[in-house]
Amino acid sequence: MSEQKKKEDRQVLVKVEHLVKYFPIRSGFLKPKKAVHAVEDVSFDIFKGETLGLVGESGCGKTTLGRAVIRLHEPTSGKITYDGEVIYDSGSGSAVSMKPYREKMQLIFQDPSASLDPRMTVGEIIGEALDIHHKTKTKEEREQRVKELLDMVGLNTEHANRFPHEFSGGQQQRVGIARALAVDPEFIVCDEPISALDVSIQAQVINMMEDLQKKLGLTYLFIAHDISVVRHISNRIGVMYLGSMVELAKSYELCSNPKHPYTQSLLAAVPIPDPDLTRARKGMAMTGEIPSPINPPSGCRFHTRCPYASDICKKEMPALREIEEGHYAACHLFNKEEIEY
Ligand SMILES: Nc1ncnc2c1ncn2[C@@H]1O[C@H](COP(=O)(O)OP(=O)(O)OP(=O)(O)O)[C@@H](O)[C@H]1O
Ligand code: SF4
Ligand SMILES: [Mg+2]
Repeated sequence: MSEQKKKEDRQVLVKVEHLVKYFPIRSGFLKPKKAVHAVEDVSFDIFKGETLGLVGESGCGKTTLGRAVIRLHEPTSGKITYDGEVIYDSGSGSAVSMKPYREKMQLIFQDPSASLDPRMTVGEIIGEALDIHHKTKTKEEREQRVKELLDMVGLNTEHANRFPHEFSGGQQQRVGIARALAVDPEFIVCDEPISALDVSIQAQVINMMEDLQKKLGLTYLFIAHDISVVRHISNRIGVMYLGSMVELAKSYELCSNPKHPYTQSLLAAVPIPDPDLTRARKGMAMTGEIPSPINPPSGCRFHTRCPYASDICKKEMPALREIEEGHYAACHLFNKEEIEY
């Protein structure tokens, strides 16, 4: 199939345009108002049925972006379109109700134990999600659906009567996934769903999520701080730095041919057991502290740590541009005719 045909066949499920999320900070009387610039003018598409990985250092805004996309955090400005319907537009002046979209969009949390009510049995936790969205009519139907969902995530039906603390971390995350699936979602924001799990369990949960995606036609936004975690599960990967999306490309392309100096340093720091990728590595491991998102650097947010920074980098924030087909980067180096490293 030609690249052009493939492009036409890909349907956009989520379209994010110029999304901004600031968290105001309380300051004293007469002091200037301050805010955490958690997400700063981010635009990207998520295609139906794909997994878009989202990586970046702690505090760069991954969780905030994931939650803002499904409006669990109300954005400060920008526009979000879901399956062709505008679900948020700061320019329109009128608020869109999320009620019709809530069950289509779900969230899986990083810490499974904290996200499950310790006083409820697993059957009650999953049943509650079914009740909220009126998914079953009778008690029998509800019990049957709870069993199906437990089976779908590889748990036994007897597990329905147990409490969350009676499960391992991996099993608790399976319960969290069953609860998300209870409402028949189309799009799931997976916020570091395996980071709290043992390495030996991580692959099992990832494989299960991939199987569920194929079976149920799900679309994932998969957040992780470690690029090696999202590399295999993601079709494409977006890299965030201090609230901005700095690079976005197909997974292998991003790891084998990173363009942005930040992505290069991020990859230089991760051990990847793949000789092709190791050979392709450029850049040096990152130095210096991540600047404060309350007072982010002017121009390119990365200029205080970038070995290639020049005057323009301190003045102008580079836009995310398509520099090769399907490969986007936000860096002034790509505004030049020749790119030299
Ligand atoms: N409710 C909030 N109120 C104020 N600031 C917040 C709030 N939530 C997040 N932040 C700030 O916004 C920035 C982005 O946070 P976020 O949790 O999105 O980062 P992250 O990339 O998910 O980090 P991690 O990898 O540690 O989960 C951080 O500086 C954080 O302190
Ligand atoms: S715009 Fe400048 S500072 Fe930013 S990544 Fe590119 S070269 Fe480095
Ligand atoms: Mg987070």
